[in-house]
Amino acid sequence: MGEILINTEGLIKTFGKFVAIDELNLTFESGIITSIIGPNGAGKTTAINLLTGALYPDQGKVFFRGEDITFLQPDQRVRRGIARSFQVMDIFPMLTVLENVQLPLLARFRKTRKWFFPVPYYGDILDEAEIILNYLGLWNKKDVTAGELSHGDQRLLEMGMAIASKPEICFLDEPSSGMNPLERAKVLELIRSLAEEGSTTFVIVEHDLDVIFSLSDRIIVMNKGSVLAEGEPDEIRKNKEVIEIYLGEEI
Ligand SMILES: Nc1ncnc2c1ncn2[C@@H]1O[C@H](COP(=O)(O)OP(=O)(O)OP(=O)(O)O)[C@@H](O)[C@H]1O
Ligand SMILES: [Mg+2]
Repeated sequence: MGEILINTEGLIKTFGKFVAIDELNLTFESGIITSIIGPNGAGKTTAINLLTGALYPDQGKVFFRGEDITFLQPDQRVRRGIARSFQVMDIFPMLTVLENVQLPLLARFRKTRKWFFPVPYYGDILDEAEIILNYLGLWNKKDVTAGELSHGDQRLLEMGMAIASKPEICFLDEPSSGMNPLERAKVLELIRSLAEEGSTTFVIVEHDLDVIFSLSDRIIVMNKGSVLAEGEPDEIRKNKEVIEIYLGEEI
């Protein structure tokens, strides 16, 4: 059993009259891979937005290690070790691959004020960027403009940026969407090895159920803004309500 990193109490988020998040109670433990699944519109991305500070709830609370962070800004959460990647691409297309990974590293090393020095002269940052890019298999493309990468490589780079900040907990919203099988396997391998290393706890939103069941230690099923079921993959696989909302799909 890991430590509880993040938990929520009765989160509610409405958009106009539409209740997107409805009394949502979530708990994320350290040291395991937790997945959030559920049909389109279940509120998965909105939930992550509430946890990472992109949105604030109408009601309810978010805690990080027991501290109320409900209304903290995203950057204040990042400083506490809460990172995310987005369902929609979040890289800087005009910068090179290397420069993209160096941005969060720079922030981490708190050298952002010295931007007028050429970035690569920061040896430690370059070393760490190299480790991350090697991990992703992108080191040989370090000087390529990020916008020119394949979609799959862009997503890998995006993940690299999320993990470069060495987060305690990292939320990945559909990390393998739009990837070919080879790229998908690479991403999964990366998540698995980072999780095994134990430095980062992952929470993954995915639609690919094969991925979910092979990768997750714990699965949370969301439907209509709240938790429909949660448990170990084997329990979820057998859950009648879960089978019902995924009717027609194989679990
Ligand atoms: N900014 C917004 N304004 C209005 N409605 C929104 C907004 N963001 C989300 N919604 C609505 O809230 C519901 C939940 O959306 P959300 O993106 O969280 O779902 P999701 O589970 O991530 O779906 P998907 O699997 O398609 O990514 C949807 O019905 C969506 O249309
Ligand atoms: Mg979503």
